[in-house]
Amino acid sequence: MPFIENGLVLRHIEVSRDMYELEFIAPAIAPDCRPGQFVHIRSGLDNNPLLRRPLSLYDVDKKLGSITLLYKVVGKGTNLLTRIRPKEYVDAMGPLGRGFSLLPPRKTALLVGGGVGIAPLVYLARVLQQQGCKVKVIHGVESRRELVALGKLREIGVEFLPSTMDGSAGYKGLVTDLLLKKVNPADIDFVYCCGPEKMMARVSEIARENGIAGEVSLEEYMACGVGACLGCARKLKSSDAQYKKICKDGPVFGMEEIEF
Ligand SMILES: Cc1cc2nc3c(=O)[nH]c(=O)nc-3n(C[C@H](O)[C@H](O)[C@H](O)COP(=O)(O)OP(=O)(O)OC[C@H]3O[C@@H](n4cnc5c(N)ncnc54)[C@H](O)[C@@H]3O)c2cc1C
Ligand code: FES
Repeated sequence: MPFIENGLVLRHIEVSRDMYELEFIAPAIAPDCRPGQFVHIRSGLDNNPLLRRPLSLYDVDKKLGSITLLYKVVGKGTNLLTRIRPKEYVDAMGPLGRGFSLLPPRKTALLVGGGVGIAPLVYLARVLQQQGCKVKVIHGVESRRELVALGKLREIGVEFLPSTMDGSAGYKGLVTDLLLKKVNPADIDFVYCCGPEKMMARVSEIARENGIAGEVSLEEYMACGVGACLGCARKLKSSDAQYKKICKDGPVFGMEEIEF
């Protein structure tokens, strides 16, 4: 069940240019959080902007009752969010949405992130690792300064391969080319993906060609965040009769459910 609470900010730091990590205490929300779900954040104090902004669970510490977000500043809401200081409060609603399915122990998961789409995959990596899965993460970015999840992924202890478009770290080029060159499909039981739609489309295609099932997390403009307004409605396939609500039926969907 989702809760709304004012979370005490423990940490709020710029981890790279225009990218922030925000950790806050949310004792009502944190216990029920699952990887792939999101929180809906009010970024301004005076209801301006009026609408909350959806941000994925980047990490959750259930013992401490804290939630960490990783966000990129792109507009008014995320800009205002940067002003919140430690010891102040952030207005959060959650956990919301349908998260990732979790693989059984001893299976191997491939997590493919593009840009800030790495955010929900980090908490997923932690939970899969904790329950005994083998986890490989590949992350594509423009330049090495965007490889902000590296520290957390090292701490979790998963295999990590980066790709950068400018060649400043790891493989030079697209993360999908890295996937084709460096990952043996025979080693993978399931693929999880989050990032730009073009990238998710290609990853889904590669998975399908190799007979591997998987899930993607979609990004859509949201208003209520709880399935009440149709603000995020989308037909996943042109042949679908009905619209899906990304906030409630998703944001995570099976790769086979979507026509990109
Ligand atoms: C389920 C979900 C989880 C998300 N998780 C994260 C996360 O962990 N970290 C993160 O940095 N961002 C995440 N996002 C995207 C984030 O919600 C938007 O970047 C944010 O709402 C932008 O708000 P703003 O007021 O700063 O920008 P706005 O002023 O609203 O928009 C600025 C620019 O961003 C574009 N934009 C805004 N929202 C979206 C959207 N939902 N999809 C595509 N383009 C958009 C607009 O077209 C515009 O060009 C997530 C989105 C969804 C739906
Ligand atoms: S944002 Fe209102 S139904 Fe999804």
